Formats: sequence, C-alpha cells, structure tokens
Amino acid sequence: MNATTLNPQTPSLSLGMSIQQQVDDSISDLLASLPDPKKLSAEQRRGIIARYSAVLEGNFIYWMTGALLSVRSEQARSIILDNLHEEVRDSHPEMLRRFTLAAHAFPTDSDAMAVHRDLTKVRLFVGRLSTVQLVIMMGFFEGFIQKFMSFLAYLAGDQGSAEREYTDVHGVCDIAHTEGLFRALDSEISLNPPDPEANLFEGVELLSSLIRSIVQQTATNNGCKPI
Ligand SMILES: [Fe+2]
Repeated sequence: MNATTLNPQTPSLSLGMSIQQQVDDSISDLLASLPDPKKLSAEQRRGIIARYSAVLEGNFIYWMTGALLSVRSEQARSIILDNLHEEVRDSHPEMLRRFTLAAHAFPTDSDAMAVHRDLTKVRLFVGRLSTVQLVIMMGFFEGFIQKFMSFLAYLAGDQGSAEREYTDVHGVCDIAHTEGLFRALDSEISLNPPDPEANLFEGVELLSSLIRSIVQQTATNNGCKPI
C-alpha cells in the first residue's frame, strides 16, 4: 500500500463515496432534463451538436490539463496523464470535428456566443486549480458524456450522418475514465482533505449550467442580450 492508498475505514473514503453518489445524482438530473430527441427540429439538432462541439473540441484537454496541474498525489497524476495520453494520441478533437462535420453542424459564431458566458465561468473556475473541486468536476463530466453519447449519436443520425467513432469511443472508454478519476479523487482527499466549508460541487454546478446552455440554448449570445 503506498502513501496515497485509502484505508477502507478512513473517513476520507466515506467522503469520496458520498461525493460520487452526489455526482451520480447530478448526472441523473441532467440526463432527465434532456429533451425528447424525436421532437427536436433539424435546427435544434444542429444547434445542440454545434454548441457541444464549440465547447468540447477546444476545451476538454485544457480542462483535464488543469486537473493534472492541480493534483499532488502520484496516483492521481498517473491516472490523469493516462487520460491525456489517450486524448492526444488518438486525437479526440479531430474525432469530434469529423463527427460534427458529418452531421452538418460545424459551429457558427452564434453557436459559440450562445455558450460564451457559461464557458467563461468554467474556464475561470478551472484556472483556480482547486484540486478536489476540479477532479470532481472532471469525474462528473466523464460520467455524464458517457451516458450523453447515445443522445448525441441519435441527433447525428437524424441529421443524416453515419459517423459514429466519437460517440462509440466516448460511450465506452469514459466508463474507465470516470472510475479512474474517482480513484484520483480518493488519493487527493487522503493527501489533502478539503476545507469542510468549501463548496466541493462548484465545478459540477458551473459545468451543469454550461451543458444546459448547450442543450437548451438558455444562455445569452453575448452575455447581455437574450437570444
Ligand atoms: Fe475524449
């Protein structure tokens, strides 16, 4: 057992398990808020894929790099580095762009601006490098997109696309990524317990708002005017 392995009897494991349960609940709430894909118009389908692509293509590796910079335990570093290696080696941004282009949903400036405000909040949060909150946010995200992929693939299919590599890969590999990030979280909590007064779900809340903007286009297009 190394210095960062948790003893099952330690309070930190209980905290980690409690956090994972709350993250699972947040994922379920977000999934339950998704619209019925059969009732979406072609423009609504295009918009969801476009806004998802506008956010994910250029930000996921950056967010995960923020998590890497923030962690202190060797176990967490190793888990997050493996995740980043896969993203870069297999060029997941290129995979996502191919998926988006095949669905005729390359983001316009309006798509990018529709998520601008909520994306900025997430970026500034990531920049604070708050270890536990950031690892929780990434665990939440990996868990969410794994279950979101079937919805996204359905939209692409109705857009006339048969390109599925991005959704197939992320519907499978993110199961292991989610489990890995919660092991990383346990290591970090064991090494550096969070302040009991801290809102451990700040990143989850900000990212949930961003995902709701992607799906529902409830954000403002320039931070001032309603769309
Ligand atoms: Fe990926």
